[in-house]
Amino acid sequence: MTPAQIELVQNSFTLVARQPDETAALFYRRLFEIDPSRKALFKGDMKRQGKMLIDTLNIIVNQLHTESTVQPALEALARRHIAYGVEVKDFTSVGTALLWAIEAMLGPGFTIETRKAWMAAYSFVAGIMREAMRNAARH
Ligand code: HEM
Repeated sequence: MTPAQIELVQNSFTLVARQPDETAALFYRRLFEIDPSRKALFKGDMKRQGKMLIDTLNIIVNQLHTESTVQPALEALARRHIAYGVEVKDFTSVGTALLWAIEAMLGPGFTIETRKAWMAAYSFVAGIMREAMRNAARH
């Protein structure tokens, strides 16, 4: 990611994170539309889950400039996701739903450049998490 892309992601997420409940609700609604089979994996309170998701994304997004800091936390998060029944392939639908939710929140503020920056950020995060899940499966 370029420094400009990191800034775009951080600035856009600041706006989105001000409305965590709305963003999370849009995200889960879209995710379950794209892949209804994943609904059964979520066993806890969805409002609480949504808050944890937005809080965690906030931390990740604010550490994008120090990739080495965020990597171990993402690997641990990925390993926990194996226990939740999440599969490597699920990162595709989650990425689509996440970008859709951010776009829905930002409206015209979600420019093509912002989309490209988010695609780069999500590829970075999902890449580390997928790799950690594959490694855990090998051991
Ligand atoms: C950007 C990638 C992701 C982030 C930042 C993220 C974040 C989180 C966080 C913070 C939690 C709370 C529990 C914990 O910290 O261990 C969680 C739980 C969970 N996540 Fe994710 N997640 C991501 C990707 C995914 C994917 C691809 C799926 C697949 C559908 C998924 C499904 C779940 C499920 C099923 C739970 C447990 C829910 C429950 O216990 O009710 N997550 N996630």
